Amino acid sequence: MEEHFNGSLLDAVKAALAQLEGSYAIAVCCQDSDEIVAARYMSPLVIGVGEDGFYAASDVPAILPYTKRVIYLDDGEVALLRRDGITIYGADGDEIQPEISTVEWEQEHVEKAGYPHYMLKEIYEQPAALKSTIESLVEARHLEVRLPHLDLPPEFLRGASQVIFIACGTAYHAGLVGKYALSTLTQMPVSCEVASEFRYTPPYIDDKTLIVAISQSGETADTLAAVAEAKRRGARAITICNCTGSSIVRNTDGVLYTRAGPEIGVASTKAYTTQLAVVSILATHLAELRGSIDSVRREEILSELLKIPELAQKTLEDDSTILECSEHFMNTTTFLYIGRRFNYPTAFEGALKLKEISYIHAEGYGAGEMKHGPIALVQEDYPTVAIATAGEVHEKMVSNIQEIKARGGPVIALTNPGDDETRELVDYVIEVPQVPEMLSPILNVMPLQLLAYHIAVKKGLNVDQPRNLAKSVTVE
Ligand code: M6R
Repeated sequence: MEEHFNGSLLDAVKAALAQLEGSYAIAVCCQDSDEIVAARYMSPLVIGVGEDGFYAASDVPAILPYTKRVIYLDDGEVALLRRDGITIYGADGDEIQPEISTVEWEQEHVEKAGYPHYMLKEIYEQPAALKSTIESLVEARHLEVRLPHLDLPPEFLRGASQVIFIACGTAYHAGLVGKYALSTLTQMPVSCEVASEFRYTPPYIDDKTLIVAISQSGETADTLAAVAEAKRRGARAITICNCTGSSIVRNTDGVLYTRAGPEIGVASTKAYTTQLAVVSILATHLAELRGSIDSVRREEILSELLKIPELAQKTLEDDSTILECSEHFMNTTTFLYIGRRFNYPTAFEGALKLKEISYIHAEGYGAGEMKHGPIALVQEDYPTVAIATAGEVHEKMVSNIQEIKARGGPVIALTNPGDDETRELVDYVIEVPQVPEMLSPILNVMPLQLLAYHIAVKKGLNVDQPRNLAKSVTVE
């Protein structure tokens, strides 16, 4: 830029951008000038339009204290911010008229509200986030699904040959639960792929394939690239996303919003549970459209789902056993999480939460796979968290727990009230309200989030910004 500078910062930046390869989001200023030039390509950049000035940031929460009016730049666009106004240039260099959107989030959403950490605040916001998300997609009086932003024709959804969930990290775990929900309610092929693998080795895709990309931020580079690849091969794509105006929302054919509000803590909590609610709504909707469930079954599922926010509140009320466990196990060096069926992904998510904020090694495993290897690890200092709530696989989980106890391993079990059989077997019991198995991952993950949180706090770690991690992974 310095080499290209000939009196105009804008021209210098534009000339330098023409030489760039790869993704970028930059804001450039220059000594002796009060202008800022901002530009993006495949990385997020948002411009704030305030009463008293203009702002550039990678994310809406950074701008919220100043303004709720924003411009989402598109790939290749350049913004010139001056004291008296802004001008946006399109990828071809011509000036364009930007669309100004108003963000729904409030300033208080990005404050800690008396909590010591964003993560803890976000864990306790889950009942409200779930209520807002579920009520925006389920019409409670008639117990019907309403998907206002799903711009795909019902004929496409009825005739879709397969569904592939694509996501990364925690969102991938939501996709796994979505796979179980769709497989249970519909008779269609469903899979769930990690986006970073999918983008280089996609499975068979035809023009009747429905891609469901899940992303809190809507800016995860691998997920965006996987969606682009699937679309290139003829698939139609929708997204489950928490951020309006994000790249994924603009690059898919429809969106089911999670209404979790801004998630600031790096460890995803309320975004995950709202994603779980949305995948079960989507599965119910597709199943009814395709005639694999009737209206009675649809009403049953949706009425149970509408009870979830209140039960989430109940789940979070008593953290005494979690605090006890966190004290007892804070110096443990490794943990195992096991679950089956709908709670197989819960085991992965519980382990991921512990890893990312407490830096304790943890492994999520399908309980049925224990005898194929991992049970060799079990001994007195190797605790297992077993998700053993009610469902078709409960008895199987109980025998997996017995196998671990017989080998001297300590067990923390997640159970429903009244499950005395499991209580007698294990060292610690954390109770969660009983709900249908398909919806149980929503409640079951909450104590696991709290366990990870309290262990990390006891270890004196930076819970909201764990080492080596970024909230949105906008690079490959
Ligand atoms: O914004 P996304 O949902 O696309 O992010 C995906 C992952 O990077 C994210 O879920 C990550 O795994 C979290 N840190 C987990 O807590």
